[in-house]
Amino acid sequence: MRLFDTHAHYDSGAFNGDRLELLASMPGQEVELILNPGCDLETSRTAVELAKRFPFVYAAVGVHPSDCGAWEDDWADQLRELAQCPKVKAIGEIGLDYYWKENPPREWQQTVFRRQMELAQSLNLPVIIHDREAHQDCLSIVREYPGVRGVYHCYSGSLEDAKILVKLGWMLSFTGVITYKNARKALEVIEWLPMDRIMIETDSPYLTPEPFRGKRNDSAKVRYVAETIARVKGMEPEEAALLTLENGKRFFNIEEEREQ
Ligand code: NI
Repeated sequence: MRLFDTHAHYDSGAFNGDRLELLASMPGQEVELILNPGCDLETSRTAVELAKRFPFVYAAVGVHPSDCGAWEDDWADQLRELAQCPKVKAIGEIGLDYYWKENPPREWQQTVFRRQMELAQSLNLPVIIHDREAHQDCLSIVREYPGVRGVYHCYSGSLEDAKILVKLGWMLSFTGVITYKNARKALEVIEWLPMDRIMIETDSPYLTPEPFRGKRNDSAKVRYVAETIARVKGMEPEEAALLTLENGKRFFNIEEEREQ
């Protein structure tokens, strides 16, 4: 299998004991590419450092809605500076999270989200969207920036919204959550979704797929996401892995660089 884990947080403290060894083991576990998004300035910096260290690791830089409380306008300049590294392939993860009560106020999240959509537009980079229980507001901000393309990571919206996003030229990405028993809604979305709009991810160290749910996640487990998609689409797991790998390379503009 040839796998691309398009969303994993190796900057997380959960990997402090074995980060570099674990990453180094990934090509031997059929993981060809990994993209590590940032959630604040510090983790964005770490993501870039890891991308510089490992040829198969790429980075995104951005401020997560849960971490946007202290946002200052110069943060956009700092993200822009980090994005000068050619291994930074997106702005993310950014978006809205109305789930956690202790998150910054909704209006502030929207302001920071817009600032980063503007940054992506000016850098001509795609965005990685985190949308938790904020589907309507998230989609309306996405529509304010028709020049920006992106991916909804760990897609949890409706089939109706998925159809709108596909029409807008966006991608949807799926995690180990689709291996859980209550995943019916996401599976219906996948069943309808054109194969060229699907990417796969682990969101490591979180969202570990069955049969390892509850343990720490890592990129090698993205194969269970590929297997679930293959089952829904009626194809071989190898084919689902390869198609989603190609989608990810195209979306993040990775192929060109590797051919140079
Ligand atoms: Ni994430």
